[in-house]
Amino acid sequence: MKLLVINGPNLNMLGKREPGVYGSETLDSISAWLEGEAAALGAELTFFQSNVEGEIVAAIQDADNYDGVILNAGAYTHYSIAIRDAIAAVRTPVVEVHLSNVHAREDFRKTSVIAPVCAGTISGFGKLSYKLALVSFIG
Ligand code: DQA
Repeated sequence: MKLLVINGPNLNMLGKREPGVYGSETLDSISAWLEGEAAALGAELTFFQSNVEGEIVAAIQDADNYDGVILNAGAYTHYSIAIRDAIAAVRTPVVEVHLSNVHAREDFRKTSVIAPVCAGTISGFGKLSYKLALVSFIG
């Protein structure tokens, strides 16, 4: 099974960014851990990070060759209709993930415009959110 892991804006800042909310691990460290977890489950991961909305849209449009997408769209989650439309446009299933529990934070984070077109949402388990998304594809 081949999965594409997409991380959106500011997730490249993990480790430095609001460690009280997001922890002290870097995105590289989380990705290396996830790659190991995936290998043990027989899945192969490809990683993509961008701070640019259109690049995330393009990555989703090009996800045909993957069995699924694990997407942390960062703040775009809450207002990007372009990312929502890209998810709706492709057949590859997308699972929405968040490190933090977006429902326990500011009101604007409680809205996800992408959730209705995603296969499911996992929020609040730190890096484990990514593993839970991975397991959701493997069964
Ligand atoms: C986030 C939650 C978003 O609200 C925020 O804008 C992020 C990270 C998370 O992983 O918890 O950038 O997606």
